[in-house]
Amino acid sequence: MDVLARAHRLEAAGRRVIHMEIGEPDFTAAPQVVAAAARALRDGRTAYTAALGLPALRQAIGEHYRARFGTRVPDSRIAVTAGASGGLLLTLALYVDPGDEILVPDPGYPGYRHMVRAFEGTARPLKVSPSSNFQPTLEMVRAAWGRRTRGLLLGTPANPTGTLISKTELAKIAHFVAERGGVLIVDEIYQGLIYGSEPVTALGLPGEVAIVNSFSKYFCMTGWRLGWVVLPQKRMRDFEKLAQHLFICAPAIAQHAALSCFSKESIGIFEKRRAEFQRRRDFFVPALQRAGLVVPAPPGGAFYAYARCPGDGKRFALELLEHEGVAATPGLDFGSNESKRYVRFAYTRGMADLEEAAERLKRFCERKIRPPSA
Ligand SMILES: Cc1ncc(COP(=O)(O)O)c(C=O)c1O
Repeated sequence: MDVLARAHRLEAAGRRVIHMEIGEPDFTAAPQVVAAAARALRDGRTAYTAALGLPALRQAIGEHYRARFGTRVPDSRIAVTAGASGGLLLTLALYVDPGDEILVPDPGYPGYRHMVRAFEGTARPLKVSPSSNFQPTLEMVRAAWGRRTRGLLLGTPANPTGTLISKTELAKIAHFVAERGGVLIVDEIYQGLIYGSEPVTALGLPGEVAIVNSFSKYFCMTGWRLGWVVLPQKRMRDFEKLAQHLFICAPAIAQHAALSCFSKESIGIFEKRRAEFQRRRDFFVPALQRAGLVVPAPPGGAFYAYARCPGDGKRFALELLEHEGVAATPGLDFGSNESKRYVRFAYTRGMADLEEAAERLKRFCERKIRPPSA
């Protein structure tokens, strides 16, 4: 927030700032989706929907899993939510009782720990490092699992690192969690944005597995507030009651519009954008390294690069903004496991901006890492 506030002040004073601190796509919803939203508005399809979402949308999401992963999931296990945030909140409301512990990766998405706390649970950090691609391993989970542990929540690809957990490690963890009678919550919000490897889903893993996903990132609909979860069938009734009481339903217009996300044309647009994100990653991560920063675990998805910087990350981010007008997020926001030494760059800008940001960074690091007096 300090970086953002300073960036706004600089812009108000006429400086050009390249924003790389924002975790949302620079693309907007596909035209087909916008047209569907306009039709829904015009036709007055604006009333509450069923708490678990429009049946047609739940069906379309189920079909999406079949088309993409060849996995069948009954619509009755899918619930439409107000973004991944709504999905995570409801999932945690379902599983967390006061005093329960949920293991969360550190560094990790800050929302996880706050949401666990909202239900009077404790988020216990798992210190993840580049050696495991900033993802939990079975050994870590086993070592951290205690008497009050209720489950594990992880994201893949993850925010802030963009790294993925391997399919085999995730399966091992799922077996372990199942043996302990816990819940494995997997945040797959960046699943559509994976580069150079096949997308993976936790769907089909054994035990109590809850999957959270969203229309925010791959479908470029951040402000529409729409996502979904896939849960074990036996939890659906309780989830439905929670959804009814806490949200009534996810936004109706967004739900009607999202039906158009899965057409061949729309997926074609999203896939082109995914290729563009990959192109940006392939340019920007090496550019960071050329500038002298270390990206210790190569990002395989999302749109983030988590870079180790010389000295304190917050100071680095503030000085980079002040001297070169590039805004990045200090690692501090994502936990306390070495995070002070990191900054996160979101490559959610066009190539021209990224090239300019790379130039500015290089100039900044030349002065900072190799000061003229040194
Ligand atoms: C890892 C992760 N999970 C969940 C969210 C929440 O997304 P939304 O509520 O827009 O679907 C975000 C947003 O940045 C995120 O990065």
